[in-house]
Amino acid sequence: MRITIKDVANRAGVSITTVSHVINQTRFVSPELVQRVHAVMEELNYQPNTLARSLRMGETRTIGLIVPDNSNPFFAEVSRIIEDVGFEKGYGVFLCNSDGLLEKEAAYINMLIAKQVDGVIFIAAENTQENIADLTRQNFPIVMVDRDLPNAKIDVVLVNNERGGFEAVNYLLQLGHRKIACIAGTSELTPSAARVEGYRRALSSASVALREEWIVHGDFRSLSGEQAMASLLQLANPPTAVFACNDLMAIGALRALRNHNLRVPQDLSVIGFDGISMAEEVTPALTTIAQPIADLASCAAELLIRRIQIGHEKDGVQRIVLDTQLVVRESCAPYSTISS
Ligand code: RIB
Repeated sequence: MRITIKDVANRAGVSITTVSHVINQTRFVSPELVQRVHAVMEELNYQPNTLARSLRMGETRTIGLIVPDNSNPFFAEVSRIIEDVGFEKGYGVFLCNSDGLLEKEAAYINMLIAKQVDGVIFIAAENTQENIADLTRQNFPIVMVDRDLPNAKIDVVLVNNERGGFEAVNYLLQLGHRKIACIAGTSELTPSAARVEGYRRALSSASVALREEWIVHGDFRSLSGEQAMASLLQLANPPTAVFACNDLMAIGALRALRNHNLRVPQDLSVIGFDGISMAEEVTPALTTIAQPIADLASCAAELLIRRIQIGHEKDGVQRIVLDTQLVVRESCAPYSTISS
């Protein structure tokens, strides 16, 4: 039989209203009565109906988090930090994987609103804000992280992807490479497109010829990096260095090179992007452009909670752009050392 608030009130010899004030701390109750009510709640193993409380208080102390695929360590590391910050501030987090599909993203947004989450952190499935347009019009607390959306009037926290791509390729140029390929991510997503722009700008700034055949597209998953690398190796004029727009595709590229009996970095250099912890565990350890994943995630979580607690500040939406960092490990070497 389910214990109700009425059972607690009867047993403690107080009114239902008093029990409610003790649970929700919505009015002063004498310490003696508080202690008596808590004792009865424990004795009867009474579980307050948090949904009823949240309907009354207008908050559930929960946050929705939508990521494309948390089997990708980048999203897993971002999700974990967001959950930690949420827990620390008294919020539970509902994690949802959109699989990069708009219809799944829409279904999860509807589900999270039905559960009355207090706000949503959101990594866009595709380059459109159609699924959050109504919520943003209602000033519902939403923060975008990692991916930008054109004309989105909501807070966003991301890195300078174009500069990160430029830095990756500039590093390879400084090593003497001139035949530099790019394994791009999903092209219509802002992070990949911006990184490719950085790739193009670095080659152009160094007056190094760009061959369009050296830009191949993956989907940010490891297998697509392996397939893209295999196709680059079939070229009549193959590259001596490759910039992969995320670490998982770079790791896939390493696998393809191994399968072709090519050594890294003796035969070809590979640099990635993200800075996932797996990048330092592969052999050779991957040189990469690291995103400040902890700062990205914690900044997004703290910004959302602030929005939830104080609403839209007068200064309007925030756009926070963090810097990436080159992390040199073992997968790149000077062009001069390439085995002939
Ligand atoms: O690895 C997943 C990629 O998609 C990362 O580069 C991240 O920026 C996300 O957009």
